[in-house]
Amino acid sequence: MDVKTRILEELKGNSRYISGQELCEKYNVSRTSIWKVINQLRQEGYQIDSAQNRGYKIISYPDILSSSEIKSALKPGSIIEEVLYFDQLDSTNTRAKLLGEQGCSSGTLVVADSQNNGKGRRGKGFDSPKGESIYMTALFKPDIPPIKASMITIVAAMAVNSALVEICNIPSKIKWPNDIVVDNKKICGILTEMSTDTDIINYVVVGIGINVNNPNMPDELKDVAVSVRMASGKKYRRSTIISSVMDYFQIYYDKFLKTQDLSLIKDEYNKILIHYNKEIEVIRGQEKYKAISLGIDNDGELLIEKDGNCEKIISGEVSVRGVYGYV
Ligand code: BTN
Repeated sequence: MDVKTRILEELKGNSRYISGQELCEKYNVSRTSIWKVINQLRQEGYQIDSAQNRGYKIISYPDILSSSEIKSALKPGSIIEEVLYFDQLDSTNTRAKLLGEQGCSSGTLVVADSQNNGKGRRGKGFDSPKGESIYMTALFKPDIPPIKASMITIVAAMAVNSALVEICNIPSKIKWPNDIVVDNKKICGILTEMSTDTDIINYVVVGIGINVNNPNMPDELKDVAVSVRMASGKKYRRSTIISSVMDYFQIYYDKFLKTQDLSLIKDEYNKILIHYNKEIEVIRGQEKYKAISLGIDNDGELLIEKDGNCEKIISGEVSVRGVYGYV
């Protein structure tokens, strides 16, 4: 870890003043280097008090996104080993795939403050204004057959949902397979892509877009999308949400890798499925029909009851809607 991230971590983890001398000794750097780092952090928006003979202390800081901020928010032993931050990218998924081609290691997280070509599922775009939301893509190299990779999307959806409930205290739920919704509107979208070779995975990229501090939604999205701020009335530090999503991801991903299916997390998923045991509309191309959603099976397929029979539907082939609107 670089010195800036370590110092930031130290300052964020302490409510007392930390002396320049202590930082020099701990990180084996000169007083000038410490001073430079403190100035850099101040320029980024951290309010750091310095008191003679006492040292430095963080008084407050706004919602800052940088690689040091995100790294210092991650817990020790995090599944994320490298964080690459950009003010703007075309798409964090596209960048992560490029890094995957260049051989970057598993556990790399690409984060951007804005995207000018954000990608959604089914070839759609993903609106990505700057300074408000989370656009991030994590790259992993799981040793599993490619056919099982789509389940990682469900793992990610559970992670986002748990983080939003815990950190932001909002009643978010999941719409199968991986939209996170609040008040019947989408708050997060997930796009998983992968590169394979015959029957092995070279890498998987899990792209997550969460609407966080947007004060409102553009007209074309306001009926179907919402932000954490709109749902909770509060603004949040994006780095805190990112780190919580990754903590939960690690928990659910470990369970998934243990069995290579969703048997250990299926029940929890079904509990937060917004249309569990409810009527939904299944849309397959031109065909539309009503059914009851019975929750997912061990492979993440949605079980439905149609005309008294139980059937499975596979994500990608169909989409589902509640009968009363977006959800
Ligand atoms: C969807 O709901 O259609 C999926 C949206 C996924 C958006 C995220 S934002 C971060 C990552 N980079 C992208 O270009 N897309 C994903």
